[in-house]
Amino acid sequence: MNKHAVREQGAVQLYLNPRCVQDSQEYDASLQSILSVAAFEQAQASIVQWPGYAPTPLRHLPGLAAQMKVGGVYYKDEAGRFGLGSFKALGGAYAVNRLLLRQLQAHTGNTSLTLDDLKNPAYKDFIAGLTVTCATDGNHGRSVAWGAKNAGCQCVIYIHEHVSTGREQAIASYGAKVVRVPGNYDDSVRQAAEDAKEHGYFVVSDTSYPGYMDVPKDVMQGYTVMVQEALDQIGSGKPVSHVFIQGGVGGLAAAVCAHMWERLGAQRPRLIVVEPNKADCLFQSAVQGKPVTVTGDLNTVMAGLACGEISLLAWEILDPGTYAYMTLEDDAALQTMRRLARADKGDAPIVAGESAVAGVAACMAACEQADWRQAVGIDENSQILFFASEGDTDAELYQRIVGMSAKEVLAQEPV
Ligand SMILES: Cc1ncc(COP(=O)(O)O)c(C=O)c1O
Repeated sequence: MNKHAVREQGAVQLYLNPRCVQDSQEYDASLQSILSVAAFEQAQASIVQWPGYAPTPLRHLPGLAAQMKVGGVYYKDEAGRFGLGSFKALGGAYAVNRLLLRQLQAHTGNTSLTLDDLKNPAYKDFIAGLTVTCATDGNHGRSVAWGAKNAGCQCVIYIHEHVSTGREQAIASYGAKVVRVPGNYDDSVRQAAEDAKEHGYFVVSDTSYPGYMDVPKDVMQGYTVMVQEALDQIGSGKPVSHVFIQGGVGGLAAAVCAHMWERLGAQRPRLIVVEPNKADCLFQSAVQGKPVTVTGDLNTVMAGLACGEISLLAWEILDPGTYAYMTLEDDAALQTMRRLARADKGDAPIVAGESAVAGVAACMAACEQADWRQAVGIDENSQILFFASEGDTDAELYQRIVGMSAKEVLAQEPV
């Protein structure tokens, strides 16, 4: 069999990326112009000062490791991030701050102003007169709305017809105006862009496209704070051999890929990017060797991953950096949420939302088949890292899927 043919097992797919330069190439200057450790340091210096900052926990799941017959599982649990429920709190809010700074610098003509100056009362009225906007399937909009509230500017958020009312309310709770538009995520992106042009709003998108690169870079750079936390928490522990990371537009996966690549060089883990099979723009782009758009209603329970268009900047990093791509159907995510919620095989119970579990679900599926294990290089010594990107960001939906509320899940005794 051709090593790079698409493999299928039931509803799960695996594709080994023929362009991956796993250990033959350093993280080079062209990629550093997108994401870099230098820009990470700026993001980190700012984000650690935000009220409520604390690194999210890195858990060990020996029960899951035994079930998958691997050496160990590191589980970076983003459920508690800034009380917003997902890693996205890092990206959108940071990009709002950076955007406001650029506007302030332009307004004052003073390019030496820094993010700290946003808090200067002298600029309060100017900032209050600016409006940021974005389209979202929930978590990014929540982050932008939260960032806008903290910084003191206005905010308008666009959601599409499949976004739950729970998520809508969460965004509105930060004082943002929420506009619901017909269609899918990509339709809401277009509406946000049109309205921004008409009303002079500033778009804070988590996806990049021709002519729109600065803001999504900042969004992704914010995410790298989470990646560095994980590296610090692992410290001198067993090095990670594989990361299974879920993809929407690819920003999260690119942040993980870039930061680990620049930090760890040839020692970096193999990265496996996972998507819902109904919204597999990264997988399809990889197979075709160029960015492609996936159409349809993209309706998956993994709402944060329901994207049909890849972020071009993410693609620049992921195309050489990703070892393999996988797709899953919704049922695998639902089962994995329930598996993690059960205090099972010695693991503590975990609250993981629909989009958080795709990486775990894909790894479990790959581990079940000897030839897939071999294809991605997993054995009994492998140390797998997951970024569990959200908790119960829609509490009602979570309870319906798992049969327990987050509180009930966490109250269980390990067995
Ligand atoms: C919980 C969660 N995980 C993963 C992702 C995927 O991130 P990206 O769109 O940057 O690939 C998202 C995106 O919204 C998300 O909300």
